[in-house]
Amino acid sequence: MAQDIYLTGITTTGTPHIGNYVGAIRPGIAASKDPSNKNFYFLADYHALAKAEDPDRVHQSSLEIAAAWLALGLDTDNAVFYRQSDIDEILHLTWILTSATAKGLMNRAHSYKAVVQANVESGTRDPDQGIMMALYSYPILMAADILMFKSTKIPVGRDQKQHVEMTRDIAQRFNHRYGDILVIPEAVISDDTALLTGLDGRKMSKSYNNIIPLFADEKKLRKLIMKIKTNSQEPGEPKDTEGSTLYDIYKAFATPDEVKDIEKRYADGIAWGEMKEVLFEYINEHLKPARQKYQRLIDDPAIIEQELLKGADKAREISIPYLAEIRHAVGIRKLG
Ligand code: TRP
Repeated sequence: MAQDIYLTGITTTGTPHIGNYVGAIRPGIAASKDPSNKNFYFLADYHALAKAEDPDRVHQSSLEIAAAWLALGLDTDNAVFYRQSDIDEILHLTWILTSATAKGLMNRAHSYKAVVQANVESGTRDPDQGIMMALYSYPILMAADILMFKSTKIPVGRDQKQHVEMTRDIAQRFNHRYGDILVIPEAVISDDTALLTGLDGRKMSKSYNNIIPLFADEKKLRKLIMKIKTNSQEPGEPKDTEGSTLYDIYKAFATPDEVKDIEKRYADGIAWGEMKEVLFEYINEHLKPARQKYQRLIDDPAIIEQELLKGADKAREISIPYLAEIRHAVGIRKLG
């Protein structure tokens, strides 16, 4: 059987937080070190334009996300780590796919429908108000990301599953029309335990404004952890680990033995203040070495730039000849 090709895109609209780390970065980095895997990781900066208008924010986010992956030890010799906007072929493929994608399919995208729904609920006259074409065709750009590298497995959260299914539809329709050219991918859904809760007990997400930035400095990290919501149980009262954000975060970092130990301390009635202290110390120690590397990279972004260009060269070894093949198939060919 052919080897699986994994591909992961990260939209560059925010600061990496510990939820991203546990859910995507940590497993991705572990996979990057396995020589039997073929992995592609990229900064989806063109996708960011569909979500954020502030140029400085898109730029800063690209810097921070790239620095985070590198500081945490992404193996860029084994994996291909690049920036979407460095691969021109992706945009060519986007247009070719756009020509073979039914508008009706895009009408059904949850990401688009959610905004329409919000418009309808707020009583605006035009349900498409404020919706850019980039948001509407977002799934086609994502399909191009995936199909450009013949990826077979796409690790995503549940919110992105539909986009991978649309990629399959688009590729199947294309192949039906032009022959067996595109590889049909499959979503790999990370299980829900990989989702961290945030400061307020909801899913940690930049849109809820409840994140703990992965590389907050010690002072900030401590301050944020002290803000994590708990119930009003007194010190000495036995406590439930279930529904405790402090426990969930601890568990995402600690070893199984350490988790057992903390479970015992919950049962023994550890005070919330003490648990916060334990969590802070633990995460701080865990992240300290990477935080120092991260800071060095942020201070010398030329190193990051070089890594990304190295990745782009590797990626284009695939995308350039493959795009030529695809263009030929659709009739974009030399005349003589
Ligand atoms: N849309 C994804 C997100 O917002 C990011 C992304 C862009 C992506 N292109 C991709 C993920 C290709 C997987 C494969 O999370």
